[in-house]
Amino acid sequence: MKFHLSLATTLLLATEGLSRRTCGSDHPPVELIEKAILFRAMSKFKPGPNSRPVEEDPVPRTQVVPLHIHNVFVNQTRDQGYITHEDVQNQFKVLNDNFASTGVKFDLKTVTHTEDKAWAMASRGSISEINMKKALRRGGYADLNIYIRPLRSGLLGYCTFPTEVVKDSDKFFLDGCDVLFSSVPGGSATYYDEGKTATHEVGHWFGLFHTFQGGCSGGDFVDDTPAEGSATSGCPLGKDTCRGDMYPGEDPIHNYMDYSYDACMTEFTEGQRVRLYQMWDQYRLPQGSTNRTTTRTSMH
Ligand SMILES: *[C@@H]1O[C@H](CO)[C@@H](O)[C@H](O)[C@H]1NC(C)=O
Ligand SMILES: *[C@@H]1O[C@H](CO)[C@@H](O)[C@H](O)[C@H]1NC(C)=O
Ligand SMILES: [Zn+2]
Repeated sequence: MKFHLSLATTLLLATEGLSRRTCGSDHPPVELIEKAILFRAMSKFKPGPNSRPVEEDPVPRTQVVPLHIHNVFVNQTRDQGYITHEDVQNQFKVLNDNFASTGVKFDLKTVTHTEDKAWAMASRGSISEINMKKALRRGGYADLNIYIRPLRSGLLGYCTFPTEVVKDSDKFFLDGCDVLFSSVPGGSATYYDEGKTATHEVGHWFGLFHTFQGGCSGGDFVDDTPAEGSATSGCPLGKDTCRGDMYPGEDPIHNYMDYSYDACMTEFTEGQRVRLYQMWDQYRLPQGSTNRTTTRTSMH
């Protein structure tokens, strides 16, 4: 009885909408922050042979990223986490549209649908989560795995940041993004129903931080995202939380890495594009062959 109650509450949260965007990837590892500071310095002052700023490339860089989408649901109804083939295709299209300016193209390799209540409702760090990902994760460290499912704690999503991984370690299997099923295009998450939660989360997977990370003086270590003192909710035009000569520009409320409503989010900056490739070259490209073939397929 207790279980059913909490299940109902979680699903209610998932479908009734949230007062603001809630992302579980709020704390990049210190190591990654240090790397971001280093990359910022490099793109500013002395680009080396392997770290040439992407904006100087005569031909804009592109990167194809293999994508695996896993829908894990309680039962095969729309309010229990199930999404249709069309929903998957629509989410895939939104991801490609939103990342188009960066040169990243996702190549949808795998779609799985799995009915499993424990996995569908698995909270972050739980045994069920690792079991699910050990069974479903596909490809190497340069493969993006997205789990579209109900989530506990009223989160819209969470993602792992890039790091050093050991092949077949838990850290390797946990790599990827979890996205609330009702945030897919046309979903029931009010204000977060255009599929841009996946875009935001995948930004973390590439190594981007929140634009408000660390507040006015902290920042996201990307030069062309204006300083931002607090997360945005809604779409407050003219919001400017960091004022004075040191902090030019209004808050980047239209940036995919802020917390605005989906309809308000429209851009990655040039600096974020460069950062994405710096992180890619550092972490995902060299570890891309860390892969295994999975045995489990589709529904069980
Ligand atoms: C799906 O699960 C919900 C919640 O447990 C239940 O109320 C509903 O009857 C189930 N629907 C089907 C078709 O099994
Ligand atoms: C993944 O592993 C398989 C089997 O070892 C190998 O053939 C394949 O080339 C690897 N894929 C990548 C992208 O390295
Ligand atoms: Zn986030």
